[in-house]
Amino acid sequence: MPKTFFITTAIYYTNSSPHVGHAYEMVLADVIARYHRLKGEKVFFLTGVDQHGQKVQQSAAKAGVPPAEFVKGISQKFVDLAKKLDVQYDEWAETISDRHKKVVRGILQRLFEEGEIYKNKQAGYYSVRQEQFLTDKERGPDGKFGPEWGEVEFREEENYYFKLSQHKDWLLGLIDKRRKEGKPVVIPDFRETELRNAVEKISDNRQSGSDLCISRPKSRLDWGIELPFDKDFVTYVWFDALTNYISFASYTVGEADSFPYNAQPQEFREKWPALQVIGKDILVPAHGIYWLIILHAIGFPDEQMPQLLVHGWWNLGGAKMSKSAGNIIDPFVLIDKYGADALRYYLMSDIATGKDADFSEERLVERYNADLANNIGNLANRTLNMIGRYLPDRQLRRTGALLESQSPVAGLLHRLSQKEIALSVSYFKRDMDGFDISGANGMPINLTLYCNGVIEEAAPWNLSKQSGAESKTLLTSVLYHIAETLRIIAILISPVLPKAAHGIFDQLNWKMELSGKEERFSLADAEWGKLPDGHVVGKPVPLFPRIETT
Ligand code: MSP
Repeated sequence: MPKTFFITTAIYYTNSSPHVGHAYEMVLADVIARYHRLKGEKVFFLTGVDQHGQKVQQSAAKAGVPPAEFVKGISQKFVDLAKKLDVQYDEWAETISDRHKKVVRGILQRLFEEGEIYKNKQAGYYSVRQEQFLTDKERGPDGKFGPEWGEVEFREEENYYFKLSQHKDWLLGLIDKRRKEGKPVVIPDFRETELRNAVEKISDNRQSGSDLCISRPKSRLDWGIELPFDKDFVTYVWFDALTNYISFASYTVGEADSFPYNAQPQEFREKWPALQVIGKDILVPAHGIYWLIILHAIGFPDEQMPQLLVHGWWNLGGAKMSKSAGNIIDPFVLIDKYGADALRYYLMSDIATGKDADFSEERLVERYNADLANNIGNLANRTLNMIGRYLPDRQLRRTGALLESQSPVAGLLHRLSQKEIALSVSYFKRDMDGFDISGANGMPINLTLYCNGVIEEAAPWNLSKQSGAESKTLLTSVLYHIAETLRIIAILISPVLPKAAHGIFDQLNWKMELSGKEERFSLADAEWGKLPDGHVVGKPVPLFPRIETT
């Protein structure tokens, strides 16, 4: 049985409402998921929310409501965002659910019994803002802790630690091995280098200082999952948040022998490993170090380690968009103003995957008007209009007589043929497989530009006035070629612009039995000549009305 393609996003903190950065990550994963469905694969797309922790507890206290109630409200906003953005996930992770808690506790209990988790007392300087003990490495050149750490106090506290540092050499080996095998743990390359350098720096002196603190005393934080072996503590962040990627994918604990990877249920193993889409801020140390080492410690073999696709940030005025910096853009407002497709398109075309970009509403409008309204929308509209005007009963005709024609238009039409379309589709695939979504967007856009050029050159409005068999053949042929290319364009834009792709198919009166369903689109159908002779198209409906800016 072919494996399911498993893709996840990070889970989103429920301490405040979603912003455009979160929308970006969801859409990026959704586009990749849709592309794999387009290729005919079975897909499991997991996204969701991270509901425990200090920040949530504090935000709830500030709002004057119990944390459980507080996270319910914010979680709903992330669900609403996914829906409004046409993000089609298969499973929604909520870390307060019993199903998740059971897995977290099972894993902690097992690692405790195996001696991978131990209790220790730590005394030292503690950053209240960042909620962590600081070491000398965090001191600036002046010997002081910088302002980024906020209030720093001396603290003595008992906690539980996970033996992270003893897995350092394994992790270095994994990174190198996977690179050699051509299946890197981290994409893009420069982020892998960043991870490798960070792993090198993990101190080897197997003491608590280089291990990972995984608990908080309940006296300080009680909004978390209680440790199964000590009811005075909750687990802090890592084992709670990171394990969502398996707990919501049918990973099972409980049976004494469920730990070896091969003892996991088929339902889990047929999906895992996942492609994990995360931002650059949570590669080191969270996903690149802690997560991979946790998986290793609970028995996942090297070939079952996930792949991390690390994207950059949407900035505003050069700084990362974040609630605390007060520079967020509300995606709901943009969707209400311009539509989901417009926002999806902007987020997928004005940034290179892996790099940062500056968000600009002006650019969003510019790209919408240029690529969607003037290009794709205009092509669909004029094509359907011309077919209605010049072809009896809106009926497309395939003509075979074109090859003999000496007209320059015939030459242009030859480029919209089997070979050329196959080439565009292969470039599209190459870019999508390399996660270069903005590059892949270029293929349907180029086809559209070409078609609009053909229309200008062929001038069907003149051909229709000429008598003579050749003009008639040319006119019929131009309209067939453009309509058929439009069908292929719809398939290629469907991962990024699902609404518009449906709109084009509806207007072409194509695959109406699957109207509104994603199965309507298949990459195997992006092949020249599928619209049959005599096919009757529908009527034009504007897809992307121009946004007037003055
Ligand atoms: N809950 C943690 C992740 C769990 S594992 C420790 C978290 N949550 S978050 O809400 O802060 O961020 C979730 C994702 O959104 C991260 O991948 C992060 O990079 C991404 N983004 C948050 N702001 C962003 C931008 N301004 N731009 C692009 N993505 C960014 O971290």
